[in-house]
Amino acid sequence: MNINKICCIGAGYVGGPTMAVIAQKCPNIKVTVVDLNEKRIDDWNSEDLSLLPIFEPGLDEVVGEARGRNLFFSTDVDKAIEEADMVFISVNTPTKTYGRGKDMAADLKYVELCARQIAKVATTDKIVVEKSTLPVRTAEAIHNVLSETGNGVNFQILSNPEFLAEGTAIQDLLNPDRILIGGESEDAIQALVDVYSNWVDDDKILTTNVWSSELSKLVANAFLAQRVSSINSISELCEKTGANVKEVARSIGMDSRIGSKFLNASVGFGGSCFQKDILNLVYIAKTYGLNEVADYWEQVIIMNNHQKTRFTSNILSTLYNTVSGKKIAMLGWAFKKDTNDTRESAAIYVADGLLEERAQVYVYDPKVKEARVYEDINYLNTRGEEENKDLLSVVTDPYKACEDAHAIAVLTEWDEFKSYDWHKIYDKMLKPAFIFDGRGILDRAELEGIGFEYYNIGE
Ligand code: NAD
Ligand code: UDX
Repeated sequence: MNINKICCIGAGYVGGPTMAVIAQKCPNIKVTVVDLNEKRIDDWNSEDLSLLPIFEPGLDEVVGEARGRNLFFSTDVDKAIEEADMVFISVNTPTKTYGRGKDMAADLKYVELCARQIAKVATTDKIVVEKSTLPVRTAEAIHNVLSETGNGVNFQILSNPEFLAEGTAIQDLLNPDRILIGGESEDAIQALVDVYSNWVDDDKILTTNVWSSELSKLVANAFLAQRVSSINSISELCEKTGANVKEVARSIGMDSRIGSKFLNASVGFGGSCFQKDILNLVYIAKTYGLNEVADYWEQVIIMNNHQKTRFTSNILSTLYNTVSGKKIAMLGWAFKKDTNDTRESAAIYVADGLLEERAQVYVYDPKVKEARVYEDINYLNTRGEEENKDLLSVVTDPYKACEDAHAIAVLTEWDEFKSYDWHKIYDKMLKPAFIFDGRGILDRAELEGIGFEYYNIGE
């Protein structure tokens, strides 16, 4: 099977960058990324590459090279499906907010809508690729929807989960640790292997059965998140015992069996994937009656929520148990550096906790827009939008955020925070001047030398 045309449904954080790299590396394949969201497609088509809807280092270059040559962004979903040999489904699969499985199961309505759309439109055989992260055995449901069309079209379904991390998406896509392809049809698998072979070594392309592939994606995220919760749990113990979590992480990370990555204690993991995928794993385990398995993984989320609450209450108790009317500067709103994505960012929950105590919160983030910050905080529905507007301000100058503040909280590990003029910031703050470093990125000795009261997680 030769793939000449690819369609990707969903122009989000995964669909956009993934297809841009496929188009860059496979100039002979026409790649069309479609979405129902017109604004998003318009932004992908922006003349000015700094206006792409997603900020990812290196993305503008890749899009700049391929767009208009063999990479297209469009809202004409039907046309792109119809002409494609291979259709990627890369739509969102958020946690359900209603009905059975509320707050746990993955909401598969967007995926099913895609399958129905493909079934309706297709007149030629197609390979349908699950790129979205899905519960194990979803391919069966997609197969049922597609095979009931009765229009004689032959569909092959593959699972090809995406492992990119935001902030490093382009590097991850160009040099993946592995590409995972699960499927039944050898021809279909080979067709997708041939696409990736254009730039990925064969020994990194792994093929499995569909169910292993679907489940591996959930398990990879669960293991990664578990490491963060594990080190975060130890950070609290370090604070009580005089041990230093960075020293502990370094010591255990040098054991090659443990490894050194993903051991940075923090204010808690965020992002659109970890929590959603673990909740989904917990839900699947529960539906099979595997309660011990479910409880084991649920603890990763419980620990993460505890870490966010603990950070907020440490600010409160250090500031003499009241932050009411006090200005607190929050540096960072994105869930990690080098992205404008704020989904499930710890910053949202910390801000909400401080607003509950009636603090005046000033947020600065180098890449997140003001409207996004208000959308995030309003979405929690803890208080009215007017009240959020009164208590929370978003500023574009970090020095203004810190001026006259009682405390600074670092929520995202943006590199620029390290090179600020901390003398200048200190001079303009109220004293004692507190810093709560939720990412452990600032230099304790330097800051204490200036006069700051510096608090770091796990020290
Ligand atoms: P996203 O919300 O950024 O993008 C999804 C897009 O799909 C949206 O633009 C939406 O408008 C569009 N869409 C939804 N239904 C549609 C339909 N019927 N037709 C056309 N367009 C439709 O989501 P994302 O972050 O790109 O994640 C997509 C999937 O990839 C999820 O399953 C997620 O778990 C998985 N994933 C995400 C990441 C990540 O880092 N964000 C990494 C690996 C896997
Ligand atoms: C994750 C997975 O890494 C990726 O493979 C998958 O495809 C999508 O989900 P992402 O959420 O984009 O990627 O970022 P990641 O680097 O995993 O960070 C997730 C969260 O954990 C961030 O809030 C990050 O700050 C936090 N984290 C990570 C820590 O607190 N400590 C660490 O040591 C590592």
